[in-house]
Amino acid sequence: MITEVIPAYLGEVMNQDLGKRKLNMNGIKRAGEVLKAGGLVAFPTETVYGLGGLALDKTSARMIYAAKGRPSDNPLIVHIARLEDLNYIVKDVPVKALMLAMFFWPGPLTMILEKSNKVPKETTGGLSTVAVRMPNDPAALALIKEAGGYIAAPSANRSGRPSPTMAKHVLEDLNGKIEIVLDGGHVGIGLESTIVDLSVDEPKILRPGFIGEAEVMKALAGDGKQYFKEQHKSEENCEEEDAHPKAPGMKYRHYAPKGEMLVLTGEWTKIVSEIEKRAKEAFLAGEQTGVLCSEETAQKMSMTGARVFINGSLKDPKSIAAGLFENLRAMDEAGCTKIFAEGYPEEGVFYAVMNRLKKAAGGNVVKL
Ligand code: TXA
Ligand code: MG
Repeated sequence: MITEVIPAYLGEVMNQDLGKRKLNMNGIKRAGEVLKAGGLVAFPTETVYGLGGLALDKTSARMIYAAKGRPSDNPLIVHIARLEDLNYIVKDVPVKALMLAMFFWPGPLTMILEKSNKVPKETTGGLSTVAVRMPNDPAALALIKEAGGYIAAPSANRSGRPSPTMAKHVLEDLNGKIEIVLDGGHVGIGLESTIVDLSVDEPKILRPGFIGEAEVMKALAGDGKQYFKEQHKSEENCEEEDAHPKAPGMKYRHYAPKGEMLVLTGEWTKIVSEIEKRAKEAFLAGEQTGVLCSEETAQKMSMTGARVFINGSLKDPKSIAAGLFENLRAMDEAGCTKIFAEGYPEEGVFYAVMNRLKKAAGGNVVKL
């Protein structure tokens, strides 16, 4: 099979005002036909590219696992394009889910809810719950509608690799394994969605993302209860060692580059001088040394001999998030054997960035 790349939008996609982009409806319709016939299509969302198949069809779900090389107990997210479609795939829709949907959909928030019998166990990795999200990308929404309303889509990378933020990353991992990639240019956010478990009494964040805990809490506050446990951050860290974590994806090794990676956290000036020192030493020891950091830190790295990979600016945490996965891939391409990564203060979007960085480093973190 040859994977075909089809533009999701007409004209220049890059650097264009998102609101002004015109959908390539012919291409999207064709991709919808492929999905309806049981094929696989990768498509852009605002978070990362998704590897889509029909969500309510067990054969499509099995094909997704095979293409990704993903263990079949790691469930898929069902993507919808209309709020009313939620009723069909969820047993009953709790008020809390509607409140979050009103606030954040379409957007980077996934909710875990009790599934209806319309969703096959293949899609949910054998679980009685289903993950649902409405992505905020016009091409994704149009494709979902064309395909009948329900697309199951994990991130469109081979299992264990960083999630794709550009169509070319999808090809790197899945060329020949899927029929079409809809190319929507670079995604806006670059981190996977925040996952909230609403199938339990006290809603809990299972995967941090662009939408922070405080924002979710605020959206739920209308219900008059304090929903979130204070300790959820430490619980989330524990999950990685747990053989049966609530979000099964959390137990797998993820994002890791081939080289040995260390994250340095703490006070910025200390991080900078420590990375400088360690990078120099590694370079002199003959390692292909990579430094993964912000623009501000990069300015201080010129004499280390390391290759510097710039995520974005410290002044704009979103830019750091958007550049991260691309750089994790680029460091592999550059053959880096030793990687030193700048850590960030664990709040807001940086909280989610740090979650991904720690996973990429296999927990190899030094606090200065
Ligand atoms: O932003 C995103 O969420 C992207 C785009 C494509 O929408 N998708 C994505 O999917 O990141 P994936 O498959 O790479 O990650 C889904 C995560 C996994 O950790 C999985 O274990 C968890 O969601 N998950 C899915 N269904 C679940 C369920 N029923 N209960 C608990 N966790 C679930
Ligand atoms: Mg993934």
